[in-house]
Amino acid sequence: MKLEGFPQNLTLKDGTQVVVKPLEAKDAPALLEFYRALPEEDRLYLRDDVTKPEWLERFVAHVQHNEVVSLIALHGNKVAGEASLYRALHGWTAHVGEIRISVAPALRRSGLGSVLARDLVKLAIGLGVEKMIVQMVESQLSARRLFEKLGFRQEAVLRAHVKDIHGIKRDLVIASNDVSHLWEAMEALVSDFSPTVG
Ligand SMILES: CC(C)(COP(=O)(O)OP(=O)(O)OC[C@H]1O[C@@H](n2cnc3c(N)ncnc32)[C@H](O)[C@@H]1OP(=O)(O)O)[C@@H](O)C(=O)NCCC(=O)NCCS
Repeated sequence: MKLEGFPQNLTLKDGTQVVVKPLEAKDAPALLEFYRALPEEDRLYLRDDVTKPEWLERFVAHVQHNEVVSLIALHGNKVAGEASLYRALHGWTAHVGEIRISVAPALRRSGLGSVLARDLVKLAIGLGVEKMIVQMVESQLSARRLFEKLGFRQEAVLRAHVKDIHGIKRDLVIASNDVSHLWEAMEALVSDFSPTVG
């Protein structure tokens, strides 16, 4: 899938320059390096073991089959952040998109997470997603604040629903953002200005 508007050259709040672009197969080794360098406290709650080449291979295949949209931020030739949009292409949740996001510890609190999340929400609306969700462990306060700022609201708490990598059970918080109104407005705008075909 060709995504419009990329690459984006950005200067973060701390002056760091990054390039945001869709993940390509050639970026896979740098992405693996990024995930392997994350501190254990971040990897504690990741759903998949992102340090394994098998995971990466599957992930790149999902991206190539348009099941996942992945944006990466490059700082030089290193990945500084990654955000993914997961969606079911068929079935009763085909209107729902899920965001997952990670930023390199050294570049946090500089706005990168917000930029990646906003870009993904925008792309999701363009793809027809009407409701966005994010799943976080109750102690992931940075993520909870970030998504709250972007208009996400807590919708459910599943008690003792996830086990961290040490086997300790944690509550899972699901926050959501109904973007269908934005989508309806965009659709109206497009139909207002679409040239007649034929
Ligand atoms: C969550 C995460 C992606 C945020 O990335 P980031 O680049 O630091 O985010 P931003 O700089 O855009 O922060 C946006 C806002 O979120 C809130 N926030 C972010 N980190 C915070 C922290 N440590 N403490 C309190 N608020 C925080 C703030 O309101 C911040 O705005 P401000 O800096 O103007 O006050 C990053 O901390 C991360 O990778 N965490 C580990 C993985 C994770 O929790 N992923 C979410 C599950 S999907």
